[in-house]
Amino acid sequence: MNTQIVNINLSHCNYSIFINESCFDFNAVAHLLKNRKIAIISNETVAPLYLEPLKQSLKRYNNSLHHLILKDGEQYKNQDSWNQILDFLADNSFNRSDLLMSLGGGVICDMTGFAAASWMRGIDFIQVPTSLLAQVDASVGGKTGINHKKGKNLIGAFHQPLAVIINASTLKTLPEREFKSGLGETTKYGFINQPQFKQWLQEHSEEIIRLNLAIMCQLIAKCCKYKKEIVQQDEKESGIRALLNLGHTFAHAIETYTQYKEYTHGEAVAIGMVMAAQLSVNLGIANDNLRKELEKHLQDFNLLTMLPKAVNATELVELMRLDKKTINNSHRLILLKSIGNAFIQTNVCEKDILQAILSTQH
Ligand code: NAD
Ligand code: GLY
Repeated sequence: MNTQIVNINLSHCNYSIFINESCFDFNAVAHLLKNRKIAIISNETVAPLYLEPLKQSLKRYNNSLHHLILKDGEQYKNQDSWNQILDFLADNSFNRSDLLMSLGGGVICDMTGFAAASWMRGIDFIQVPTSLLAQVDASVGGKTGINHKKGKNLIGAFHQPLAVIINASTLKTLPEREFKSGLGETTKYGFINQPQFKQWLQEHSEEIIRLNLAIMCQLIAKCCKYKKEIVQQDEKESGIRALLNLGHTFAHAIETYTQYKEYTHGEAVAIGMVMAAQLSVNLGIANDNLRKELEKHLQDFNLLTMLPKAVNATELVELMRLDKKTINNSHRLILLKSIGNAFIQTNVCEKDILQAILSTQH
């Protein structure tokens, strides 16, 4: 079996991401599983598909397996679900030496990580991401959290996993819309600082759309490597890590405004990246054709690039004020000089943001 490994080296810990195309392979991390209770956190969609195969893979190393199945959806990435996890850990007497394990998309990964960060001031966890978005982004780098009713991901902590175990064959059951959503988050690496990756995606677009698993493993490994290069330099986002938020301040406002019902995270990120490109053009930072180039690339993967006019752009700008990237009401946004050349722009004025949103509506 061909397993790809991406190692993450941080000042206080190291861990690896293991990517293969056929199974949940814990062989390399067997020593992390022994003599402790394991709580697998999943949801009502993913658990019927993968809880048993996951348990079968773990049983070789551990027989103290517990599981909790939560409701499915971004709207459940909240304090109630987080409390359910904590209650479950309390009811089953989990202590500091025990282990949490996510099994699901980015929502489950973020919540499991945050429960691990907060239970007894921090216990170990392993990420087992099953959506493309979680495999290329959410399970890697230690950002964990839940949404507050006022905004997305407002409650959270940095807490790194012990390992990330990726079985790319789980993508076979991922709904097409969610797969596309994952591609939205995937494309951002090409736009941020890896222009050759945009080219690679174009060259392999057919295999990606046909879900060639060998190519998907390469794609996931590339994204994890791009992300790790940034996270290793700036784990807690005091600088360069903010680049990974390209399009996200717009996206979080879109998701909050539509109450997580209209757009998946990756869809909102795709539209948010177009808004960032438009803003970069309007401010004279980028060449006029940047937006067209970016839109074309997203459309090649059937991603939406515009918001309907019915969305109130002024309200979106107000929601953007609550985003964590806003400092003293001055907007700090990730803009683009060109494809593959993103940078952090501070003091962006709301009039310009509004204009960029309005020109991304139809
Ligand atoms: P999600 O977790 O809601 O998963 C999307 C849908 O696919 C859900 O219905 C889920 O149950 C289902 N699903 C997952 N895997 C499946 C499979 N193999 N087969 C069938 N169905 C499957 O959403 P997502 O797109 O995976 O993640 C989005 C979340 O990730 C957002 O909350 C976002 O804020 C977060 N995120 C976090 C980070 C980070 O660094 N922590 C980065 C990016 C995104
Ligand atoms: N997804 C953005 C980050 O991990 O920093």
